Amino acid sequence: MPENSASRGGTIPPSPPLRPGGNRSPRTPSAPLAMSRRQVLAGAGGTSLLAATTSPAKAATRGRRARAGSADGTPEQVHLTWSENPATGVVVSWASPGQARRPRVRIGQRVIPAEPRPYTDGINGETVWTYHARVGGLRPGATYAYAVTADNDSNSADPFSATFRTAPHGRAAFRFTSFGDLATPNTAWVLSYGQSAYAVEAVETFEPLFHLLNGDLCYANLNPAAQPGVWRDFGNNNQTSAASRPWMPCLGNHEVEFYNGPQGFTSYLARYTLPDNRVPGFGERWYSFRIGSVLFVSLDADDVVYQDAAAFVTGPAALTPAPGTGRPAIQPGTSFYIRGYSNGAQTEWLERTLAAGRADETVDWIIVQMHQCAASSSATGNGSDLGIRQEWLPLFDRYQVDLVLCGHDHDYERSFPVRGADADAGREVATGAVLNTLRPHPVTTTDSGVFDTSQGTVHLILGCGGTDAPLDEYGTDTADSSPFPGGPPPRIPPGQAKVFTRADRPALTSTPDVYARVAADAVEDAIWSARRDTSTGYGIAVFDVDPGGSEAGGQASIKVTHYHAVGADPVNPGTGVKGAPTPDYTEFETFRLVRPRSS
Ligand SMILES: [Fe+2]
Repeated sequence: MPENSASRGGTIPPSPPLRPGGNRSPRTPSAPLAMSRRQVLAGAGGTSLLAATTSPAKAATRGRRARAGSADGTPEQVHLTWSENPATGVVVSWASPGQARRPRVRIGQRVIPAEPRPYTDGINGETVWTYHARVGGLRPGATYAYAVTADNDSNSADPFSATFRTAPHGRAAFRFTSFGDLATPNTAWVLSYGQSAYAVEAVETFEPLFHLLNGDLCYANLNPAAQPGVWRDFGNNNQTSAASRPWMPCLGNHEVEFYNGPQGFTSYLARYTLPDNRVPGFGERWYSFRIGSVLFVSLDADDVVYQDAAAFVTGPAALTPAPGTGRPAIQPGTSFYIRGYSNGAQTEWLERTLAAGRADETVDWIIVQMHQCAASSSATGNGSDLGIRQEWLPLFDRYQVDLVLCGHDHDYERSFPVRGADADAGREVATGAVLNTLRPHPVTTTDSGVFDTSQGTVHLILGCGGTDAPLDEYGTDTADSSPFPGGPPPRIPPGQAKVFTRADRPALTSTPDVYARVAADAVEDAIWSARRDTSTGYGIAVFDVDPGGSEAGGQASIKVTHYHAVGADPVNPGTGVKGAPTPDYTEFETFRLVRPRSS
């Protein structure tokens, strides 16, 4: 299901949604997800093999009960993010069903008070209680145990506890993992699916230093009457891994929610404390951090993409907020389109950040995380967006960004290294007229397995987390004998990518009061596309950073292995084969990125 057609409007449903496994139970703010992880996994159609594996955080998770007659400050949805310096600090964040009294983190002999960041959801009027404790002054490359509690923690005698590791100092080897588009294991929610629990378990299996979560975290905006509940199921699912290692997110189109802040990001911003970008008014919407010889840059592509894929009321019913919110109904055909919201501030910050990174002799690699794609050829998904190509690809070229990690299309696709753009390589879908899609130019089309990213940027689409909508069918242009004029026949049939070159704002359909957003308006031969996984829309990418030897002028490398969950597609869009969630992640491909060390 393309994301553009996945949005739903409507009023607040009269009854609570069905949980996985079919049991009904009330979803009130003080009723934590009562199911065990084993039940969630089994109920989602999978076996419970992974339920037998234990992480430190999971071992500390127990059944929790609200105290009758008083606010329940029991921590849940516990997760870590890096502080400004990942070698010396993390932020512990969590939520509680009610207002916590004296929320705090205990680490060694230190007790660190948490800062509350409550908000009231703009659609259903529920108040959400979140807390953040900055833990600094730590030693690099060290393991710490911590506990999270409050005076009204129902488990105060034995509070939630977990361990984590700080980042190493200086040039050092480390591992990180990545995917986007995770959703939740509670199949009552639109786009949620049982694979989401296995995906979290997969992160734990690979024991990375941290995980990059590339946007579209839980699709709360597709469940507008129950956004806090969706976020809660997401947070409790993630806790299995994210309480034990930082999960660093970026914003996607499904973090944009009606009546939740100027860009709709309140649910996200209340739950995450992220490194400070020092851009007034736009804190935590984009950021960077350094680990070893790698500069990580996390962007919000909602700011630059043409496509309109955020909160949307399709109709025919209006979206009517709870009476207590005092908010008016949102009429059919309304979409929350935020392109250009930073008025160029993000791109200016990006240029400053990339320039400083490339000028720094201790930085070898620059890795960008964002949600939407500059180079995706999914046929069932969204495709590529000219906005990113116009705004950011020239900067990626100028400052030799090595790797771009995305989500958005629920599949796996890898580009050849690209630099510069081919002009006039696109065609308008409606008329066939030539369009300049700024097609990324591959610096090689030999899939050698080793790529020098000082010569071009590799793009990876990793929207393969855990939604119920795999988009692993890719465009082909069978009319072409070769994607290269006058060149040899292609190794594989030339891929074709859809490209948004303008906004697809909602248009009235033939059904009264029902609106739709159309697919991308242009296509191009995707000569930049090197590898596409047609067997499944689920997987996890594992990155092993090798800083290289100690000699000056040596070579640094990153080994990238993509593991995929074959058979997990509910229905494979290419073959029609039906599947179910699976804990089995097997290797799809391994390749290496290399570049000269900068010192
Ligand atoms: Fe998306």
